[in-house]
Amino acid sequence: MLYAERMTKDPLVERARAAALRAYAPYSRFSVGCAILSVDGEIAVGSNMENACYRLGICAEIAALTAAQQAFGLDRIARIAVAGGHLGPDGTLAGAAPVTPCGGCRQAILEAAHVAGRDLEVVSANGNGSESMTHPISELLPHGFGPANLADAES
Ligand code: THU
Repeated sequence: MLYAERMTKDPLVERARAAALRAYAPYSRFSVGCAILSVDGEIAVGSNMENACYRLGICAEIAALTAAQQAFGLDRIARIAVAGGHLGPDGTLAGAAPVTPCGGCRQAILEAAHVAGRDLEVVSANGNGSESMTHPISELLPHGFGPANLADAES
């Protein structure tokens, strides 16, 4: 049973991995994909997009959150998967460690959690999907800055 569970692939991680393979990341060659599931079962995806002006590159999570807002709205997000790795010459994504969202993306996911009114589960996976871990965004970004801080400071 345990073996069967291990072999069962999370479809949302598979979508994130597929999105990573469509990343535009010629400078770092580190391809990341993000797939966002809605409460109704819709999926929005995004991948990182780099730029010759390096600092203008955007992360997969931001691209996917933007797509999710257009497709069904941040308030309807149920779950998020992130996957990625170094793109090898054979077209596969290498790397043992799951790709967890960077700090800025955690902040953006926390914003979506505020809009949704609930904690959001984030699955982080490596490029071939063999390793993954799941955390609520509240754990990935404890004591995060949010709308409550702005409201608190209002006079
Ligand atoms: N990257 C993401 O897309 N998401 C993350 O959470 C971490 C980093 C991208 C940015 C850059 O294009 C590449 O990975 C290497 O940092």
